[in-house]
Order: sequence, then C-alpha cells, then structure tokens
Amino acid sequence: MPGMPTKRGPRPMLLVALVVAAALVSCARPAALNPQGPGAARITDLWWAMFWLATVIYIGVMGFIAVALFRRRGANPGPVAGRRFIVAGGIILPSVVLLLLFVLTLRALDASATRETAFTVQVTGRQFWWEVKYPTSGFVTANEIHIPVGQPVRLELASEDVVHNLWVPELLGKFDLIPGKTNVTWIQADQPGEYMGLCAEYCGIQHAKMRFVVIAVPPEQFAAWQEGQRQPAAAPTDPLLLRGQQVFLAADCGTCHTIAGTNIAERAGPDLTHLASRRTLGAGSLPNNRGNLAGWLLNPQSIKPGNKMPPTALSGEDLQALLAYLERLE
Ligand code: CUA
Repeated sequence: MPGMPTKRGPRPMLLVALVVAAALVSCARPAALNPQGPGAARITDLWWAMFWLATVIYIGVMGFIAVALFRRRGANPGPVAGRRFIVAGGIILPSVVLLLLFVLTLRALDASATRETAFTVQVTGRQFWWEVKYPTSGFVTANEIHIPVGQPVRLELASEDVVHNLWVPELLGKFDLIPGKTNVTWIQADQPGEYMGLCAEYCGIQHAKMRFVVIAVPPEQFAAWQEGQRQPAAAPTDPLLLRGQQVFLAADCGTCHTIAGTNIAERAGPDLTHLASRRTLGAGSLPNNRGNLAGWLLNPQSIKPGNKMPPTALSGEDLQALLAYLERLE
C-alpha cells in the first residue's frame, strides 16, 4: 500500500537513539563523576546507586506498560491478583527503594560531616569572591585553597553577605555558606593537582564569575607555601616601587585591600599581600598577568559588572608604577 507508515515509523527513533548514544560515548566524563578525593567519591557512589536503581525501575515499568499494551484481551488476571500487584508494586517496592536510598544518603552525609583533621581552613563567601583564612598560620588569601595532598583538612564555611555554595566537583559535594552560621566539613585530595571550584548557589549578578581553585601539593611543598604566605610584603626600595606604593595609598586602594607590612588592615576586598603569586584576577575571571591587571585596575566594572571594586583613574606613569609594585607582591 502506498504511504504505509509501518516501515518508516521506527527509523527516526533509531536515529535519535544512535545520536544520544554517540554523544554519551564521546563526552568526557563529567568532573562530578571523576572523584579525586574521598568526599567526591562518596557522592559518586551514591549517584551511581541512584542511577542503576532508577534504570532498573524504568525498564521494569516500561516492561509492564508493554505487557499491558500487547496483552490479549481475554487474559485478565482478575481483581484479587490485581490488588496484590498494586500493594506489592505500588506500596511495598517503592517503600523499600526509598528506604534504601535514604540510608545510603544518610551514610554519605555522615561521612562528610566530621573527621579527625590536622588543621583548619576558614572560607568566607563574599559577593563575588572567596576569602580563605589559615587561622593557625595567621594569614589570609583569596580564591585559592592550598592543601597538602592525602590529608583531610577541616573546612569552616561562612558568608559575609548572602548565601553562597562551595562546590569542588572532583573533591567535594556542595556546601552552603550561610550568613550568621558556620558549616563544617572536610576536604581531601588523593593526587596532587589543581581542582576547579565554583559557587553553586545564585548569589547575585556575578555568581558565574565566583570561581576558585583547590591546589593540592606534597606536604613539604605545602609547608614551604605556608611559610611564604606568612611573610609580610617586602618594603619597596627602588624608586619605581616606592612610587607604586604611594599610588596605592593615594588611590585609596587600602580602603578595601590589606597588604601585610604596610599598616593597612581592612578586609572588604581580597588581601593583596601575595597577589602576584595567585593564578587569577577577579575570582577566576582572568589569568593573572600584567595586561589583565592593568585592565582590572582601570575599569573592573567592564570585566565583571556589579563587583564592588570602583574604577581607578590613573596617569600612564602612575599605572606603570602601581603595576610594578603589585607584581612584586609574590
Ligand atoms: Cu556566590 Cu553564587
């Protein structure tokens, strides 16, 4: 017969299935399913448990639908068998599945709550960057969390303004940072490396540019980094750097930014004592280099509209001196 749909029907479905399968196979494994530490590993296990349970249940339900669709008319099981099926499949089975998932979730939550740790890092969320404090070592940095590899580190999470959420897909599940409350968890990386982190709770116009990096290094290297961070900024000696420091003070940068060793101690913006050692500017907005730093100083609003840093009008010479000074803050 002309225009018989039976032969053409399944082809588009087959095509869609093939495209989806190819996309799934070719996709890189998402970071959240590629755990590099025990925190993310527990969540990945939970994710796969839920995935396979849901898959089995989906196939089962589809099977029953197929049976119902294609069953011969006379083969009705009768009201008693039907009621049993509803009790078993509609009440008992879902209760068992939900109870199992509840227990698995509680186990994952419990494991993330407390752990014996050697030291603490305090992370405070701000619009739109991360203050990272090492209380026992007595220094503060921003948008980078350095940890020794293979060791659990206690994380104390708080917020200065609105609710943020800290997420390191390869290392740690999502934790809220809530004003007036401190949430506690711990983080550990099993391999040295740099792990991307981000804010996972909408917190305002620049929520998407609120990134950070967790840097896991061998313990000796971590100790050396801590020692370096503990040092105040070296006092400038040559004329260009001295001028840069004067520009910094004259432009009122110190209203918001601390540089240890300069008698400035405010905290509304990131501590700049070791600015030059950091990977990025504007919480992951730009790589930290001279051109980007110049653009950021002159007009941060064009790079990250809505952040709290005002533009600074500087002459060319003042800008060069300020850049030279800031680039020496290693
Ligand atoms: Cu901070 Cu979103």
